[in-house]
Amino acid sequence: MSQNPLTLPRVAIDFMNRDHDDFAGLRATLLNQIAGGTTDAVDSLLDELHQHTIRHFADEEKLMQETNFPVYPVHKGEHDSVLADMAARITRWRQDGDRDALQKWLDRGVGDWLVTHIASMDTVTAQFAAARQAR
Ligand SMILES: [Fe+2]
Repeated sequence: MSQNPLTLPRVAIDFMNRDHDDFAGLRATLLNQIAGGTTDAVDSLLDELHQHTIRHFADEEKLMQETNFPVYPVHKGEHDSVLADMAARITRWRQDGDRDALQKWLDRGVGDWLVTHIASMDTVTAQFAAARQAR
């Protein structure tokens, strides 16, 4: 099963780059487990990805609030909708155990979203925060 390879843009805040790399690593491990691992392994990696995303979004939101990022509600709104989608996707997986659907969501949906989100909202947020912190 081929994976949608991710080229993640670098942003101006280090912790964000580290978290994005960790997320990409978790996603790749999870895709391998969906292809050939046990249901328990998939379940626990999905939980890990979900917890990582909740914590990472909270850290970005804290940074935006501390630096008075002007379009905080837009960025926060996208985080909220991604978390709602992820929670719904995990619930559906627990009900139907459909590996193909889970694989497609994670490979294409999440992969494409991640690159676009980093290239747009995260890039602008990090640039703004780095400029504020440098003052
Ligand atoms: Fe973000």
